[in-house]
Amino acid sequence: MNSNNTIRRIAISTGGGDAPGLNAVIRALVVSALNHGWECYGIREGFNGVLFPERYPDGGIIRLNRDRVRGITHLGGTILGTTNKGNPLCYPLRMPDGSIREVDRTDEIVSYFAKHEIDALVAIGGDGSLTIAHALAKKGLRVVGVPKTIDNDLDKTNTTFGFDTAVSFATESIDRLHSTAESHQRVMVVEVMGRYAGWIALHSGISGGAHAILIPEIPFSIERIAAKIRERESQGRIYTIVVVAEGARPEDGHRAIVSQADVGQAERLGGIGEQLARTLCQMTGKDTRTVVLGHLLRGGSPTTFDRLAALRFGTAAVRALESGHSGVMVALHHPNVMYVPLEEVAGRMKAVPPDCDTVQTGRDLGICFGDET
Ligand code: F6P
Repeated sequence: MNSNNTIRRIAISTGGGDAPGLNAVIRALVVSALNHGWECYGIREGFNGVLFPERYPDGGIIRLNRDRVRGITHLGGTILGTTNKGNPLCYPLRMPDGSIREVDRTDEIVSYFAKHEIDALVAIGGDGSLTIAHALAKKGLRVVGVPKTIDNDLDKTNTTFGFDTAVSFATESIDRLHSTAESHQRVMVVEVMGRYAGWIALHSGISGGAHAILIPEIPFSIERIAAKIRERESQGRIYTIVVVAEGARPEDGHRAIVSQADVGQAERLGGIGEQLARTLCQMTGKDTRTVVLGHLLRGGSPTTFDRLAALRFGTAAVRALESGHSGVMVALHHPNVMYVPLEEVAGRMKAVPPDCDTVQTGRDLGICFGDET
């Protein structure tokens, strides 16, 4: 920060998995900051542009002017690129003997900001990126976070941008599966992302008229899902749609993973849909198919809700910096955008409360959650 505490130059980083609305936040930040007379820079791919500038022939950080952010509000992805590898708090460094050691590289980021006279950072990301942002703020960098993730698992905000787009796409996909499932008298298992939270499965499953919804917060019994399918059959309802969150797990088992966590990287979840489909086919004799929506949930244009949330978050982050805030995240506390301390967000996860009214809504509508009630 310069000597009189005023801001002249800010940098923006987008980290973790991409989410629809990232470009809208970037545009809002840049337009709003330029209107304050500030210069704006974008860091390439999380913090890689700072830590590995040599990888980028056009520079690890790029100047963002009006032309660079024109017409990007509706575009998916991020013009800065992103990464969910190489967390600078525990960066995997290969030692001469071939072993891997975790090193904290956040001091390098703080020095870079000082050297290039960048007065503040706006970190747009999920839990991982905001934990890094929190660490940087504790080291004296002026930082504001913006909550992003399709998973909606960040605490202290009503919602994150990206979630509404993911849920809308998942709902439309479930809508489309009803007719083909009915025509073929099948069980369709739809696996959705969400990591350790069931928000996407819950919201899209209820809205799309699923008959069973399985989420990480409510461990399931496969017998109960099979019973639900048989019960429907006995009532002449010849097809069933099961929506399963990638992080859901049986009462007596583990969640399905694609690969273990590596240094600086999270474990990859996936495969529960196919496991479930195979077992349900054996138990009920029904023809069963699996649809994995996967990264389709992260692509495409943000919905109106996500665009507006992103634009509100971006301009609010500039207002936060202007009024001297640091170490905070902009958050939606309907109907307002507020600032909450990063320490109340970092490292915490917002899970679906099993007794929340949305779960109860599903139960009242006869949806099976795979548990006893
Ligand atoms: O956090 C967003 C998310 O899409 C999760 O829902 C999912 O588990 C993960 O990222 C997938 O990450 P990757 O892009 O590395 O496959």
